[in-house]
Amino acid sequence: MSLLITNLGELVTNDPALGRGPLGLLHDAALVVVDGRVAWVGAAATAPAADERLDAAGRAGLPGFVDSHTHLVFAGDRAAEFAARMAGAPYTGNGIHATVAATRAASDDELRAGIGRLRREALRQGSTTVEIKSGYGLSVADEARSLRIAREYSEETTFLGAHVVPDGSTADEYVALVCGAMLAAAAPYARWVDVFCERNAFDAEQSRAVLTAGVAAGLAPRVHANQLGPGPGVQLAVELGAASADHCTHLSDVDIAALADSSTVATLLPGAEFGTRSGYPPARALLDAGATVALATDCNPGSSYTSSMPFCVALAVRELRMTPAEAVWAATAGGARALRRDDIGHLGVEARADVLLLDAPSHVHLAYRPGVPLVCTVLLNGEPT
Ligand code: NIG
Ligand code: FE
Repeated sequence: MSLLITNLGELVTNDPALGRGPLGLLHDAALVVVDGRVAWVGAAATAPAADERLDAAGRAGLPGFVDSHTHLVFAGDRAAEFAARMAGAPYTGNGIHATVAATRAASDDELRAGIGRLRREALRQGSTTVEIKSGYGLSVADEARSLRIAREYSEETTFLGAHVVPDGSTADEYVALVCGAMLAAAAPYARWVDVFCERNAFDAEQSRAVLTAGVAAGLAPRVHANQLGPGPGVQLAVELGAASADHCTHLSDVDIAALADSSTVATLLPGAEFGTRSGYPPARALLDAGATVALATDCNPGSSYTSSMPFCVALAVRELRMTPAEAVWAATAGGARALRRDDIGHLGVEARADVLLLDAPSHVHLAYRPGVPLVCTVLLNGEPT
């Protein structure tokens, strides 16, 4: 079965060989999908015939968003904590323990209902790929269960047993558990290993122990780094060849240079700064130094309870001073780089046909019209959702 999407007023391909600039922008474009993959891209006037036809009526098209950082496996919410914060209380990460208690008390089906609701919410807003972390179980059984259930919703699952030290353990006891029995139980359901490298969570040596144990178990590393203050997370991520250092809110010039000289993507999560009323990460310095930047939601009930990549694009443009083109690239191709995937995040030939249509003439409108549900059509693997 083939599908021709035609009359695209603008098409973001993220393939500079196909169109203008890093977004590979085309105008009056068309795209053909065969068996869930992009089979042809080019000028609408020269498009080949196909079994079915979708008239985009001048709308803009772009690759589906790649949300490379979420914490969707949890129960309960922390609206009262958020309200207290907006009244002046600081964000410390201590609220994680409340979500751990609620998550442990939830049944498998309650956790499925929560992930399913957020996954559908994200898909409606254009996220065709969503990474999902554990980290609200913090016991062998609850971390393995969180990942087993997350796997039902995404192939991009991340073991974050080292989120915080649970009540009742010392840090050293807990790191030994994470690197031993917990990792063994979690690894069959995970592709990635992550650690919250931060004062009040895990220091450089503990983080290194967790990540190297994860690598030895066949997982690939990524790091929660430099979120709440300066620290060793970014340097550790680069040293270990992590796919991504996430948050990157408090960076030194040395951190920025290290990221720019590495294959580690700087994944920025402006929803977390918005939700904790904190200063935003230095996106401009990262981009100007030549680092690869991704944008993701960090969707979780504490710091960033948004599933909306369009909202993060708007924040990135307004608050991080990224251009609309940089932000849209970071939310699509950047996310794919952060997950080390070359089949998503672009619409070159052979890419997975994850395609969004906007009820707008260009990608700029994602930032220009914040809060407006512009994503009107979402194709996943070439299928309408
Ligand atoms: O990425 N930083 C650590 N973890 C989450 C927040 C977790 C929470 O507050 O529940 C984050 O922001
Ligand atoms: Fe996070």
